Amino acid sequence: MRKCVKCQNKAVVYLPQHRLSLCKEHYMEWYARRVEATIREFRMFSKKDRVLVAVSGGKDSLALWHVLHRLGYRADGLYINLGIDEYSERSKLLCDKFAKDRDLVLHVVELKREVASIPEIKQVEKRPACSFCGQLKRYYMNKYARLLGYHVIATGHNLDDESATLLSNVLSWNMEYLSRQFPVLEEREGFVRKVKPLCKFTEKENALYAFLAGIEYVEEECPFAEGASSIEHKMILNQVEEKSPGTKLRFYMDFLRRMHPLLSSEEVSLVPCRVCGEPTTAEVCSVCRLRERLSPKPLSSSASS
Ligand code: AMP
Ligand code: FES
Ligand code: ZN
Ligand code: ZN
Repeated sequence: MRKCVKCQNKAVVYLPQHRLSLCKEHYMEWYARRVEATIREFRMFSKKDRVLVAVSGGKDSLALWHVLHRLGYRADGLYINLGIDEYSERSKLLCDKFAKDRDLVLHVVELKREVASIPEIKQVEKRPACSFCGQLKRYYMNKYARLLGYHVIATGHNLDDESATLLSNVLSWNMEYLSRQFPVLEEREGFVRKVKPLCKFTEKENALYAFLAGIEYVEEECPFAEGASSIEHKMILNQVEEKSPGTKLRFYMDFLRRMHPLLSSEEVSLVPCRVCGEPTTAEVCSVCRLRERLSPKPLSSSASS
């Protein structure tokens, strides 16, 4: 039986990449301290900032909301209902329950009311659902965070997500994406600051925290995620990790510390979208162009100046 390195009680987990055995209480403490240290390391936000946590109903984002609340941050939630049948309904229900049980504020954006549901858009768009879904989520997270007066948007992206994205960007040497891959994206012209406080935690570590904290979360993946290349990249990294624990974290952290500073970050200039006023690099933003494809009618200017 492994013993907790802090108190010698029975350990509930062994973290091979950190060579740590911990009991429930000390795992929860280790996790919270490490989140706090990550927030400080990357200067993500302070206790004064109003933080909007984008919650999907999954383990990562609910664990993030839970730990931020526990650490005393001013964190509210935002759920975007994508309208993916029971998957979205159940996710929404669990986000609602999480907020109600803890007396926290949850904002809900209904994609069907804003544009159309993901399955409806899928009938018109040829691209994979994840591609336009990601665009829409980013757009509405930013729009509502700004409208509701939040300083920061926090997402539950974990180490598995970030290292898989890094691997994919390296395999294609996508220098533009690599230069933007950082756990903090500063605010600028209409964009609210975006942060990923769980970028150093694996999916498993977040799942364990959520389980030990008694959080109910959706376990199933989005039905449109099947066959996504990110799943393959995650599998490859997991195989390497199994043979050599710590590789994933080193791959990602060494990129941030040693490689990222060498990449030039030429910032493209942003302008307000002619139709909706949200920041964009083109005259009309990608969400308005999507809306136009869904119900073709002349684009009118509704942006306030
Ligand atoms: P994903 O792109 O599904 O891996 O999700 C990455 C992060 O985006 C999650 O950890 C959440 O913080 C956020 N997110 C995903 N889906 C939603 C949603 N429907 N509503 C709000 N935030 C979301
Ligand atoms: Fe967006 Fe699956 S969560 S397509
Ligand atoms: Zn202990
Ligand atoms: Zn627009």
